Amino acid sequence: MFTLRQVGCNARSMLGSLRQMSASAGPLVDVAVDNAGVATVTMQRLPVNSLNLDLLTEMNKTLDDLAKNKTRGMILTSASPTVFSAGLDIMEMYNPDFKRAETFWNTLQDVWLKLFGSGYPTAAAINGHAPAGGCLLALSCEYRVMATGKFTIGLNETALGIVAPTWFIDSMCNTITSREAEFALTTGRMFSVDEALKTGLIDETAADKAGTIEKCRGFIKKFERISPMARAATKQKIREIPLRKLMQNRQKDTEEFLNYLKNPMVQKGLEMYIASLKQKAKK
Ligand SMILES: CC(C)(COP(=O)(O)OP(=O)(O)OC[C@H]1O[C@@H](n2cnc3c(N)ncnc32)[C@H](O)[C@@H]1OP(=O)(O)O)[C@@H](O)C(=O)NCCC(=O)NCCS
Repeated sequence: MFTLRQVGCNARSMLGSLRQMSASAGPLVDVAVDNAGVATVTMQRLPVNSLNLDLLTEMNKTLDDLAKNKTRGMILTSASPTVFSAGLDIMEMYNPDFKRAETFWNTLQDVWLKLFGSGYPTAAAINGHAPAGGCLLALSCEYRVMATGKFTIGLNETALGIVAPTWFIDSMCNTITSREAEFALTTGRMFSVDEALKTGLIDETAADKAGTIEKCRGFIKKFERISPMARAATKQKIREIPLRKLMQNRQKDTEEFLNYLKNPMVQKGLEMYIASLKQKAKK
């Protein structure tokens, strides 16, 4: 379900497995494996990597394949020069086909469970804006490096009249203090790169995309002498409660999402937000 490029040639066994996976390549996710066996996963649903069902399905499959092939680590980034991901594709939520909306939400849950709960190290090379679901993906990784520039990152759901699900909130609280998360979430705060660094929402900055990837690679390198099993089990223990909460409440969480979409006020809010985005794009 994704395209494959090789970077370097020492990751032979990994590469062999990845080649098999690339037989069913799709266009929205690119995977490149470096000499150390670290996979750089690039979202490439341009212009803004909004997370629709197709992109999420490819990401879900990619995460399965990386786990199966025992990747040494994963760096998540974007093919856009200015946007990491614009978050959930609003068109999946506006006047939706409810059967598709259910599959969409279940796939997003799967992606989060696999990314937040992965045994291998994960880092986000945030080379542009990361609102809402884009921020969620970054928060699901263990380390975040953001490119400097006039970019913003945050969970802005309340600004759209949407309530962020518990697991979005848990991801934020796993990264910054509950107090800061509450303030940011209730106000729909979008952080500048400097503010994100100061708050701890991101760990480092870099001048450009190459720099963000290099620093992510440096983070993953820290685990070279650490037992992968001990590492994965420790991460699992730290992340266990939010993961278990969603696994035990998936159905209820999905129903809540679908009920939101059935609310005329929410639909009106989405309609106005889409109009404002289109208006902005025309200027
Ligand atoms: C991410 C962002 C900062 C990028 O800004 P930009 O580079 O100037 O790009 P634009 O805003 O012009 O968006 C490009 C196109 O993507 C569309 N788009 C942007 N975000 C989208 C989203 N989340 N879902 C669907 N479409 C989206 C825009 O409507 C525009 O479509 P058009 O070309 O048909 O007019 C900006 O698009 C944005 O803020 N998006 C909304 C993010 C958000 O609130 N997501 C929450 C979803 S729950």
